[in-house]
Amino acid sequence: MADIQLRQMERNDWPEVADLIQVSTNFWYQRGGKPAIFNCAPSDVQLFCKVYEDLDPRCCVVAQSGKTGRIAGSCFYHPRPAHVSLGIMNVHPNYFGQHVAARLLRHITDFADAQRKPVRLVSSAMNLDSFSLYTRAGFVPRQAFQDMYWPVPADGMKQKPSLKNARVRLASKNDAEVIAALELANAHISRQKDFEYFLTNADGIWHGSVIEDDSGIRGFLFSIQHPASNMLGPGWARDEDDAMALIQSELDHHRGRSPVFLVPVDRSDLVARLYASGARNCEIHFAQVRGAYQPPTGICMPTFMPETA
Ligand SMILES: CC(C)(COP(=O)(O)OP(=O)(O)OC[C@H]1O[C@@H](n2cnc3c(N)ncnc32)[C@H](O)[C@@H]1OP(=O)(O)O)[C@@H](O)C(=O)NCCC(=O)NCCS
Repeated sequence: MADIQLRQMERNDWPEVADLIQVSTNFWYQRGGKPAIFNCAPSDVQLFCKVYEDLDPRCCVVAQSGKTGRIAGSCFYHPRPAHVSLGIMNVHPNYFGQHVAARLLRHITDFADAQRKPVRLVSSAMNLDSFSLYTRAGFVPRQAFQDMYWPVPADGMKQKPSLKNARVRLASKNDAEVIAALELANAHISRQKDFEYFLTNADGIWHGSVIEDDSGIRGFLFSIQHPASNMLGPGWARDEDDAMALIQSELDHHRGRSPVFLVPVDRSDLVARLYASGARNCEIHFAQVRGAYQPPTGICMPTFMPETA
C-alpha cells in the first residue's frame, strides 16, 4: 500500500474515474450473480464527475499507484452546511481488500472531523464489503430503505394522484428555498444549493414535483433521467398519501422506463400500497451517519445521484 498515493481528481482523470466506477460496481454485482448496474457507455458514467464538480469542485479524491500511474480507487464527497455527504466509493477489483477504500474514507472523515461535521451516506445492505468499511470507520446504520421499481407504461401512469385539498405540480426554481427549509425542519439536512442545481437543470436531466396546499409546499420529490442514473429522489413527504402522490407524479415523467426509488422499510402502509400497485424490490440500503444524528419526521426518499442521507 506504500505504492498508493491519494490526490484530488483532475479534469483529465474523468475518463479513467468513470471507467473505474463502471468496472468496479459491475464487477461487484456480477460476482454475486446479480446484473450489472451500469449498462451504459463508459463515457456516460462521467455523470458522477460532472455533477459533483458542478456542485463542489475538487471534492473527489483518487488513490493512484505510484508504480503504474493507474487510478486504483475514487470517492466523491460533498460538503454541505451542517454535514458532509459521501458519494460513490469505488476500488478497482485488482485492489480489493488492500485498504484502498479505508484510506479514501479516512481522508474524507478527517476532512469532516476538521470541520466538526457528521458524515452521511447511503450504502447497500446487501454489500458486506461496504457495510464493513463504513461501520469499521464509525458509521451507524440509522434508517433502512427498500429500493423499488414500478414499470411506467409508455402512455403514462394509470394511477393518478388523488389528494384532498392539495395538488401536485412541477417544481420551479423559485421553490428551492422553501423545499430546503421544509427538509431542514423535518429531515434535519441543509442543502439548498442542491435543489437550486436540480431546478436550474442546465443539462436537462432533472425533474421535480412539489405537493402544496393553501399553506404552501408540504412535500417534494426530484428525479434524474440519464443513461448512468435513472432514479427518483431526493424527496420528503409528510405521510403515505403525499408520498404516493409524489411517486406517481414523478414516475409519470419516466414513461416506458423503470426508475428506482427508495422508501423507508418501516412505512409498511406505503410499502403495501406500492406492492399492490405492482412495484417490486431490487435492493436494500442503509442510511448511515458518522457523528451527530437526529431522526427525521415524515418520509425521506434518498437517492444516489447525488448521494443523500
Ligand atoms: C466496497 C469497496 C469500496 C471496498 O474497497 P476495499 O479497498 O476492498 O476495502 P478495504 O480493503 O479498505 O476494506 C475495508 C475494511 O473492511 C474490512 N472488512 C472487509 N470485510 C469484512 C468483514 N466481512 N467483516 C469485517 N470487516 C471486514 C477490512 O478488513 C477493512 O478494514 P481494515 O482496513 O480496518 O482492515 C470495494 O469492494 C468496491 O469498490 N466495491 C464495488 C463498489 C461498491 O460497492 N462501492 C460501495 C458503494 S458506496
